[in-house]
Amino acid sequence: MSKRHTTLGEFLIGRPEEFEYDNAELGQLINAIRLAGKVVSHEIRKAGLVDITGTIGSTNVQGEEQKKLDVFANEAFINTLTNRDIVCGIVSEENEEMITISGANNRNRNKYVVVMDPLDGSSNIDVNITVGTIFGIYRRISPVGTPVTVEDFLQPGNLQVAAGYIAYGTSTMMVYTTGNGVHGFTLNPAIGTYYLSHPNITIPDMGNIYSVNQGGYVHFPEGVKKYIKYCQAEEDDRPYTGRYVGSMVADIHRTLLLGGIYIYPQSTGKPEGKLRLLYECNPFAFLLEQAGGRATNGAQRIMDIKPTDIHQRMPFFGGCVAMVEKAESFLKKNS
Ligand code: AHG
Ligand code: MN
Ligand code: MN
Ligand code: MN
Repeated sequence: MSKRHTTLGEFLIGRPEEFEYDNAELGQLINAIRLAGKVVSHEIRKAGLVDITGTIGSTNVQGEEQKKLDVFANEAFINTLTNRDIVCGIVSEENEEMITISGANNRNRNKYVVVMDPLDGSSNIDVNITVGTIFGIYRRISPVGTPVTVEDFLQPGNLQVAAGYIAYGTSTMMVYTTGNGVHGFTLNPAIGTYYLSHPNITIPDMGNIYSVNQGGYVHFPEGVKKYIKYCQAEEDDRPYTGRYVGSMVADIHRTLLLGGIYIYPQSTGKPEGKLRLLYECNPFAFLLEQAGGRATNGAQRIMDIKPTDIHQRMPFFGGCVAMVEKAESFLKKNS
């Protein structure tokens, strides 16, 4: 009889020490995300057969053409989190303004806020390449009983109580941290249960994969150009392998498991880079650090940065500590 895996539900119940703030509520919140992830996974698995691929003819606050699955995923997570009556507010990549959830009897009693990228890697949906959902969870800082405020979302990433992602890949996986290590669960679609498949994910000390969109090379800062040439040089442990999926969830998931470095730098056309601080950079920074890695904007720790806007963009260098520090040294030398 093969060893029976622990389910996500059993794992959450079995670790009350993780939820020092409020076991029941945070556990329920992660469960709600788990449920919404199953709904989105089911829709994605049949995307080619139903009219759920392609665009809807509108653009989001990012200036991006919204895909049908962007909107579907956004609505699935917002509805699940609202109906479960656990959070007092949500920031989503797909919504220009924060979403206020006043909860039962409009009493604004809920203690957490969620930041999310409901569908990451949208450009890959129509070509059947891995996409994902990214989330971060904070305690509210405004008084319970009052409506959520934008300040509740502009907290530095080091105040996240939990963060994670769902990768809709060859299998659907949910990976999360509450500050007690990084744990990965694989969905068994036949019975709709997530099983603990990757306990205590730890990034290797060193990797040989560098992940960056080389198409932007001519627009990158000199230090990034020099680091890319370093990765390609025939010396020591190099050349490294180049891998770039174009879904941050896929590129970071691979980096967590195999090691390496993922870079989305600033460039002449994107002075702050492309990735959003709240719901892409911070959740992955929390996960990478919890797995023993590093995440900076090339100079400053991502999770120490105080956000100024809910859709603020930030350059991102994340992966094995030694590789991120090497990239930073090239930036410093060529600044
Ligand atoms: P999203 O699809 O949520 O807008 O995010 C896409 C992000 C990230 O997932 C990916 O790594 C990056 O954009 C790809 O950008 P480029 O196509 O510019 O490389
Ligand atoms: Mn987008
Ligand atoms: Mn994204
Ligand atoms: Mn997105």
